[in-house]
Formats: sequence, C-alpha cells, structure tokens
Amino acid sequence: MKIDQKQKEILVARAKEARSKSYCPYSGFAVGAALLTQDERIYTGANIESASYSPTVCAERVAFFGAIHDGARDFSAIAVVGGESDKAISSFCSPCGVCRQVMSEFCRDDFLVILSDGNQITEITMEALLPARFALKETEKGGKA
Ligand code: THU
Repeated sequence: MKIDQKQKEILVARAKEARSKSYCPYSGFAVGAALLTQDERIYTGANIESASYSPTVCAERVAFFGAIHDGARDFSAIAVVGGESDKAISSFCSPCGVCRQVMSEFCRDDFLVILSDGNQITEITMEALLPARFALKETEKGGKA
C-alpha cells in the first residue's frame, strides 16, 4: 500500500501524542509509536518501564501487541519518535533489535518504518531494517503472502 506524505505526517503526530503517555522514570527516555493497518486503523503505544528493568516494553511492541490483540494482522507502516522525556524530540529513534524481530513476525518486506527528529521525516523498509531475517518458513515472513 502506498502511503502519502500527509498520512506520514499524521502518523508522526499520533506517535508524538502517544509519547506523552510514556512511563519511563528509569531511563528518562520517552518513545511513542503509531502503527497503521492496511485498512487504515491506527494503534498507538509508548514505552513502559519497570523497576527491575528487564520487563520494560518498548513503544513499538506496545502498539503491535495492542493491535494484534484487537484482531489486526495486516500492517503498512509504523511511525516512531523518541528522546529525553523532558525535552522535545531532536534526533531519530530507530527501533531496537527485539522490536525489529516482533515487526518481522507480522510485516512484509515493504512495511515502512517512519522516523522523525521533530523536523525531518525519514523512512526505512522492514527489509532494510532487518535483512536476512529469521522465519521458520519463508512463507511466515510477515504473515500472509
Ligand atoms: N525504547 C523504545 O520504546 N523503543 C525503541 O525502539 C528503543 C528503546 C525504550 C525502552 C526504554 O524504556 C527506553 O526507550 C530507553 O531504552
């Protein structure tokens, strides 16, 4: 699915809005994500931390798991923004390795990851973000062919 510039800007705006809900008292780094389904629904997420650190869940996974639990399966893009929680975003926040693997479970090669530094918008495909990705079967890359 082709996503136009206006849709990208809307997704980034929704990710920024979601970022304000981040619970990050330990890192002080707030992240927001907005996930677009192929039928144009948007699911958002923010990172949620824990005092024992490892249970922390990234914004991207909060968005994906909420969407999956709601029955969504086909995705076209996710916008991600992050930075120090008491400041406006000023640099790009690229998804961590764990989130890339979770994305890989549900997204095809042309799925778009849209990043903003508060000024510019850039994008990268699933294929470029996680090359030679692991799947038990080739047909399982990003779900339905
Ligand atoms: N974080 C995300 O939410 N997404 C990413 O892709 C990178 C990192 C969060 C996890 C943690 O709460 C904080 O940012 C600092 O690592």
